[in-house]
Amino acid sequence: MLKSKKVLFQLTGSIACYKACVVISRLVQAGCDVKTVCTENALKFIGKSTLEGLTHHSVYVDTFEDRLALEHVELTKWMDLAIVCPATANVMNKLAAGVADDFLTTLFLAWDTKKPYLIAPAMNRNMWAHPATKRSVKTLEDWGVKVLGTAKGYQACGDIGEGRLLEPADLYLEIRKHL
Ligand SMILES: Cc1cc2nc3c(=O)[nH]c(=O)nc-3n(C[C@H](O)[C@H](O)[C@H](O)COP(=O)(O)O)c2cc1C
Repeated sequence: MLKSKKVLFQLTGSIACYKACVVISRLVQAGCDVKTVCTENALKFIGKSTLEGLTHHSVYVDTFEDRLALEHVELTKWMDLAIVCPATANVMNKLAAGVADDFLTTLFLAWDTKKPYLIAPAMNRNMWAHPATKRSVKTLEDWGVKVLGTAKGYQACGDIGEGRLLEPADLYLEIRKHL
């Protein structure tokens, strides 16, 4: 069912980037063609080599990289589904404000809204409960984005609460459901 499906997998600057790698690996093993986009801050948590090794594609980061002009538009045509996983509070609030100041956010504005766009939030419980984040979730859902739930439990900062990234097996099932 997933064979040859094209997934645009986008990572942002969260401690949960390591979990996203498990999901990417599973998608590739299921026959998906997966391309990755990272914010500059995602690369502080995960290396390009890991993502290139898992997907056999280079990683998109910079809108102005040589030979990649207009690639943000091409990718929206290429993809069957996009997911931001993990999604920081920062990136969710930027997307909901229509900011387009890096590859990931520019691509979102070029998104063909007929195609599924998923967001898997990962953040500290206070960031998740913040009114700015709550408002952004509502705005994004109103625009047709599927904002996935979060899990409750231990957070990297030591807190216990809502805002944890869903487990890789659950993320994989959500992607499968929307493809
Ligand atoms: C160790 C560490 C872990 C972090 N984890 C998260 C996280 O899980 N979720 C989040 O929203 N921000 C997290 N941050 C803060 C973001 O990295 C920061 O807001 C950054 O500007 C996000 O950039 P980006 O959204 O462009 O990737 C973390 C920061 C550090 C130093």
